[in-house]
Amino acid sequence: MTAMRGVGCVIALAALTLTLSGCGDGGRAERRAALGPNPTFADYRKAADPAHGARLFNACAGCHPISPGALDRGGPNLFGIMGKPVATASRRFGYSGALRAVGGRWTPELMDRWVADPRKLAPRTSMNFQGIGDPLDRADLIAWMETQGR
Ligand code: HEC
Repeated sequence: MTAMRGVGCVIALAALTLTLSGCGDGGRAERRAALGPNPTFADYRKAADPAHGARLFNACAGCHPISPGALDRGGPNLFGIMGKPVATASRRFGYSGALRAVGGRWTPELMDRWVADPRKLAPRTSMNFQGIGDPLDRADLIAWMETQGR
């Protein structure tokens, strides 16, 4: 009995170590493995980890504040951006004609296309950002942005 309990402890410890080692990247490898071979956009959305998305926003934060009332920097304040019409995050910001021409609202799908490759969605946009190639990273980022201002 005691020996069994000991084995249980070792297993629990191994599981804990696995969980902790996954923390740094939001358990990305595990989440990716669980997605299977041909994940859909909905699959990525379901697997999204907003805590990891918060860290990924560091790539945006140099240009974009994301808090109520914050002044625009190189880019507009993105607080509450999800669901808003495109090019309306800030009333003061001077958007490019390219972005204004996109139209519609910031759905998760549109945000995914934008963050993947801004110049593909809006050629000649003034957002100087190369994009995030990994769909799971984009899903993480969008899941976090959805929590900022809703
Ligand atoms: C080098 C500065 C810079 C970086 C880095 C940057 N952006 Fe931007 N962003 C801009 C600028 C400038 C615009 C306005 C683009 C235009 O008008 O064409 C913009 C516009 C946007 C908009 C449209 C806002 C609206 O009102 O519709 C979104 C959404 C956005 N950025 C998200 C992001 C995200 C998410 C990241 C990080 C993954 C990011 N940006 C990284 C500068 C930046």
